[in-house]
Amino acid sequence: MIDRERVHSVLDRRLFGSFLEHLGRAVYEGVYQPGSPLSNKDGLRSDLLEEVRGLAVPIVRYPGGNFVSGYNWLDGVGPRELRPSVHEKAWNSTETNQFGTNEFIRWCRQAGSEPMLVFNLGTNTPEMAAAYVDYCNGEGGTRWSDLRREHGYERPHKVRYWCLGNELDGPWQMGHMSAREYGRIAVETAKLVREVDPGVQLIAAGSSNTELPSFGSWDREILQHCYEHVDAISLHNYYGNTAELTGASSARYLAMNLDMQRQIHEIASICDEVRADRGCSKRLWLAFDEWNVWYRARTPADMDGQGRVAPHLLEEEYNLEDALLVGGFLNTLMRESGRVRIGCLAQIVNVIAPLMANDQGILRQTTYYPYAWALKYASGQVIDLAVESDTYPIKADGLRPDFARDAQVPYIDAALTMDEQRGEAYLFVLNRDLNNERELVLEWQGPAPTRVLNCETITGPDLQAINTFDQPRRVIPQALDAPAPGSSMTLKLPPASYTVLGLAVRSGTPMRGT
Ligand code: AHR
Repeated sequence: MIDRERVHSVLDRRLFGSFLEHLGRAVYEGVYQPGSPLSNKDGLRSDLLEEVRGLAVPIVRYPGGNFVSGYNWLDGVGPRELRPSVHEKAWNSTETNQFGTNEFIRWCRQAGSEPMLVFNLGTNTPEMAAAYVDYCNGEGGTRWSDLRREHGYERPHKVRYWCLGNELDGPWQMGHMSAREYGRIAVETAKLVREVDPGVQLIAAGSSNTELPSFGSWDREILQHCYEHVDAISLHNYYGNTAELTGASSARYLAMNLDMQRQIHEIASICDEVRADRGCSKRLWLAFDEWNVWYRARTPADMDGQGRVAPHLLEEEYNLEDALLVGGFLNTLMRESGRVRIGCLAQIVNVIAPLMANDQGILRQTTYYPYAWALKYASGQVIDLAVESDTYPIKADGLRPDFARDAQVPYIDAALTMDEQRGEAYLFVLNRDLNNERELVLEWQGPAPTRVLNCETITGPDLQAINTFDQPRRVIPQALDAPAPGSSMTLKLPPASYTVLGLAVRSGTPMRGT
């Protein structure tokens, strides 16, 4: 049972952020393509900007990712003709540095997004991290802030969110280190950075995924060093429907947002444990700043740029079932929004992305749609729902242990936001039942909704269906029969579907799924 009094959290829209890495065709041929008739005077793809503005993506993390751990931000600022081309080692590509921090900030301003930057703590130093903050945020009168002004950016960029490196627990990472080493470097970096700008929010690099043997112990140990110096810790994970992860079972796959939920709970518990050990009053928040489906374009060839500029890397094509699961992830993030303040769908364009760009225009992949709904409709407060639903069993049976558990999975997965000021509530529902329509009964306590604002679903007969430049509308939202507004409303959810129901409301609601 729930009602409007059962407010779980106030939603921070940064929960629905994204990520842009110098990787493959994300930057070059993605956001930046000078000379293209589709680009504006700054060389930025206008059609992509329009899409991102239309989505209203609140925050975008940059410049990596694995890329950042070998990046010298100084290579990417100043007159373009003086910027060096370098061998980019994370993805074995050529980085021309024609797009750098100032271009990214300009892109963010035009896209209406807030920038979130990542330090290179792999091959670079705490001193250069502090210099980067000074370059971006200093008012002037210092070496680095004056350099920015010389480069044509008089006013500080005022970047608030900074990540203390990327995935340094991973053996693949340039500058990979032990938790003890990272903890120490994170402290030293945080101290220097806060001298330059005490107003920043600093995010420690938590475990890269749940599979590494150090998952959890890395987080605990780094926080024992840096807890007092940081504001948040990052979580990353990528999911897929493979023999190893799910037994290639769509029913198991559609339950993977519960793995995300478990990871959030585990890392939150570790934070709180360290907090208690240290007798600290500050409570860290979480940044799930890389998450997505990524498993097809993940072969060694997909990750090797062969020394090229803008090679085709990680160009994952998303199908219907991926879109349904992305809806599930968004539900989880909403339900966990009391603790997870920032989330970044990795990434924004061309590289494991909801949007693809080619010389003709932009394609909305299947996963664009649930993401667009969260951005468009979720606002105000997240309401705690007690959903009753039938369940189905999933088995661990030889699957990768960090994901597989024996469990009973509810067919219905729901999240509800309530915006008192707008007088609107939005319900987001994943029906994991692959074969049957399911009825969801909404029983409102107090005043009933007065009007249905919209009722749409993403579904279809073929879970493998994808959108392509030739056939861009195979998987798009469809209108769904809306229940009549009232104190008891029955929503009929198609099998294998993700649905949004918008309602004009005056008060809270209980609901029961069957
Ligand atoms: O997003 C692709 C890669 O995945 C990022 O570079 C890295 O941080 C993660 O492992």
